[in-house]
Amino acid sequence: MRERAGTGLILAIESSCDETAAAVVRGGREALSNVVASQINLHANYGGVVPELASREHLRNIVPVVREAMSRAGVQFDDLDAVAVTEGPGLAGALLVGITYAKALTLGLDKPLIGVNHLEGHIHAVLMEASQQVSESASQRVSESVGQRVGGEAPLLALVVSGGHTHLYLAESSEGVWRYRNVGRTVDDAAGEAYDKVAKLLGLGYPGGPWIDALARRGNPRAVPFRFQPIKHRGGAHDVDGAPSFDFSFSGIKTAVLRYIETNHMRESVEARRTALAKHPEWKPGSDEAAGLCDEQTLDMIASFQYAVVGNLLRQAFGAAEAFGARGMVVSGGVAANSELRRRFQAEADKRGLPVAFPSLALSTDNAAMIAAAAWPKFVAGEVASDALGATPQLRLGGS
Ligand code: KG4
Ligand code: ZN
Repeated sequence: MRERAGTGLILAIESSCDETAAAVVRGGREALSNVVASQINLHANYGGVVPELASREHLRNIVPVVREAMSRAGVQFDDLDAVAVTEGPGLAGALLVGITYAKALTLGLDKPLIGVNHLEGHIHAVLMEASQQVSESASQRVSESVGQRVGGEAPLLALVVSGGHTHLYLAESSEGVWRYRNVGRTVDDAAGEAYDKVAKLLGLGYPGGPWIDALARRGNPRAVPFRFQPIKHRGGAHDVDGAPSFDFSFSGIKTAVLRYIETNHMRESVEARRTALAKHPEWKPGSDEAAGLCDEQTLDMIASFQYAVVGNLLRQAFGAAEAFGARGMVVSGGVAANSELRRRFQAEADKRGLPVAFPSLALSTDNAAMIAAAAWPKFVAGEVASDALGATPQLRLGGS
């Protein structure tokens, strides 16, 4: 292990998708700054991320975002111990902007560069906050206990659920080094992608998650019985080693929503909603104006869709936690911002006596503080990237 006589300061850069982000974090725990330039408004016009536009925006934003992160933290480049950057998974052109910038910076400063897997970053967003929390409430006590246990011998079950990923990992740390084993993944769409696609089918805004989250509160979740079928694939419900596998599939429910819209002749009302929202981009997902665009049947369908998706995530995550004897659970990624998901996961965890922790809303979606947090144990272990570090769009974590 490397002797640490430095400042403990890591500047991290994240540019894997549609947020250009930079953060300065001390000791992998204390975020001195966390700056995110979101491109959501740019991509909203297309109903999804356009890779070429994303790269161009990253190029435009990277310098001011890093400057802002350094100035908010009140530190100079010379104060840094290392620079960390997301190496994948993500969009090749987008990743390259962050990687090229980070490489040039470390070369000029003669500081170590650390490559981080974006998914590991999402997991460390929770660990970073859980280890900081001094609790008052019951749920905080649970978070704290996850924070304490993560250093121990027991595996932690991590659900990373975002627009690009729905993965279950067993995470273990031994002498400060983290290891991961993938025990479940989506075979088609990610859960956040299903939220975005269903919101688009319904004429709602982008990204779809916050719209569906807000509108679902006004509908009946039992109105439409959306179901998830068991997943058929090579190894059945087991992976190659014979261990149970907890995979996901979200393309079926999207098709079921489309069929529901057609069978119930809802196309006209979808178009009316799309037109009204295009005229009023200022209407927020939770506003009465936005809700006023949805009749009872639509609200019920939205609530039923979310109830089914969250139920599926919950069954697989808690099933895996039980099967692998996990001592705690962390849930992260953009969809972990979902209010129903947090409520139901917390209730199930309390019932089972299993600690569960989520990141704050700011650290649920893409950011660079989580990249710095994941980089810290690597820095301490002397795991420095070589000059050959490049973008790896399909980078995996834990073997799958
Ligand atoms: O982690 P993230 O910012 O980017 C990726 O790595 O994908 O996640 C973005 C995803 C989008 O699909 C968005 O619709 C979803 O997270 N999301 C939500 C909520 N907020 C964001 N999904 C459900 N409920 C929310 N409140
Ligand atoms: Zn992400």
